[in-house]
Amino acid sequence: VLQLTLAVIKPDAVAHPVMLEALHQIILGNNFVVVKCKDLVWRRQDSEKFYAEHSGRFFYQRLVEFMSSGPMRAYVLAREDAIRHWRELMGPTKVFQARYTSPASIRAQFGLTDTRNTTHGSDSVESAQREIRFFFPDFCAEEWMEKE
Ligand code: CMP
Repeated sequence: VLQLTLAVIKPDAVAHPVMLEALHQIILGNNFVVVKCKDLVWRRQDSEKFYAEHSGRFFYQRLVEFMSSGPMRAYVLAREDAIRHWRELMGPTKVFQARYTSPASIRAQFGLTDTRNTTHGSDSVESAQREIRFFFPDFCAEEWMEKE
């Protein structure tokens, strides 16, 4: 089934032009349609709001600081089974685990630490809806789906 997902290239990867380009090519090479794409910088409060579900976790402060430390690139991606495919390409959240279990994954190849793990992807249909709205408030997914 055709799905939309929200993918983010995080500040660690955007800061590195070669990595940014490589990630963009990975997206294009895996049959995703780039429905929306923009570069943006979060204020600290955007970061806190987006990751509110993690507040209280030991890594929350460092995550919030990192995600508002510089430019990011956000995408709305479409393809068959987009949510699962993007998450498979990313590999596990934890970089060292990714290197062990999925050495070809994005995080295994490009990730620095469990926080600076290069990319984000929605983990369910519900979170994709919420996250797409968060990054692209003017985008109407229903309208886009109808046009396809
Ligand atoms: P993301 O997919 O954006 O969702 C939550 C983020 O929190 C995650 O990627 C990491 O950047 C960060 N994170 C999750 N678990 C840990 C952890 N154990 N240590 C540090 N950062 C983490």
